Amino acid sequence: MEKHVKLEILDKIAIVAIDRQEALNALNTELIMELGAVFDEISKNDSVGCVIIKGEGKAFVAGADIAEMLVKNQEEGEIFGRDTSQVFLKISNYKKPVIAAVNGYALGGGLELALACDIRYASKKAKFGFPELGLGITPGFSGTQRLPRLVGSSIAKEMIFSSAIIDADEAYRIGLVNKVFDGENLFDECLKLAKKISENGQIALEYAKTAIDDGLKKSLEEGIALENKLFGMCFATEDQKEGMQAFLDKRPAVFKNK
Ligand code: CAA
Repeated sequence: MEKHVKLEILDKIAIVAIDRQEALNALNTELIMELGAVFDEISKNDSVGCVIIKGEGKAFVAGADIAEMLVKNQEEGEIFGRDTSQVFLKISNYKKPVIAAVNGYALGGGLELALACDIRYASKKAKFGFPELGLGITPGFSGTQRLPRLVGSSIAKEMIFSSAIIDADEAYRIGLVNKVFDGENLFDECLKLAKKISENGQIALEYAKTAIDDGLKKSLEEGIALENKLFGMCFATEDQKEGMQAFLDKRPAVFKNK
C-alpha cells in the first residue's frame, strides 16, 4: 500500500497523485520507490491508454528532499541520482503517453519528473526551475539531459546556470509546457486530452510513441526506416482495417486493439 503515491484508474486513464503535502511533495526515497512500483502496476494493466501525473495541494513537486540529501556522501548521492533516474526512465519508456498536470511548483527533481512525461499541461500558478546550483549540486534526476533535448542547450543552460524560477507563460514561450490553463480547468483539460488519446487505436499509439522517442536517438534516415517498419506493422492489425472501414462507413471506429 503506497503512502505518498495514489493510483486511480478511471475508465482507460490512470491517475497518479503525488501526495506528501507537508513537504510540497518533495521526492524522498520512499516516494520515489512508490512511484516506480505504481508504474510497474500500470504497465501490467493493458486497458490503460494514458496516464496523468499530478501533485496534491499547492505544488506539483518541489524537488528532491533536501533534508534527506543533506547527509549523503559521494557514493550515496550517485546511487540516489541513478536509482531515481531509473524510475523516471520507467515513466518515459512506458509504452503509452504520460501527461504531467503541473499545478504549482515544479522545481529541481519535480521539473525532472515533468520532463520525463510526454506532454506537460500547466496551471497559470505553476513555477518551473532548477534551484540545484544554489544548493551546491547539479540537477541529478536527468534534467541536464532532458531539458536541452526539449528546449535547446542555450535556454537549458540559462535556466540551470542561473537557477531562475520561471512562470507558466515563460515556460510556454520556451516550449517547456504544451498549454497553460486557469488552475481550476487544468485537471479537466488533462482528462479531456487523456480521453481523446485513449480512444485512438492503441497499437498505433504505442508505435507512434516508439517512432518518435526511438527515432530521436537515430539519424533522420534511420528514424524514417523505423517509422516505415512500424507503419507497415499497423497493416497487420485489425485496428487498421476497422479504422479505415469506419471512415468509409462514416461511423466512429470501434478498436479492439488487436
Ligand atoms: N525538500 C525538503 N523539504 C521541502 C522541499 C524540498 N525540496 N521543498 C519544500 N519543503 C518543505 C519546507 O522545508 C517546509 O517544511 P516545514 O513546514 O517543515 O518548514 C514545507 O515544505 C513548506 O515549504 P515552504 O515553507 O518553504 O513553502 P513556501 O511556499 O514558502 O516556498 C518553495 C515554496 C519556494 C517551493 C520553497 O519550499 C523551496 O524553495 N523549496 C525548495 C525547492 C528546491 O530547491 N528544489 C530543488 C531540490 S534539489 C533537487 O531536486 C535535486 C535533484 O535534481 C535531484
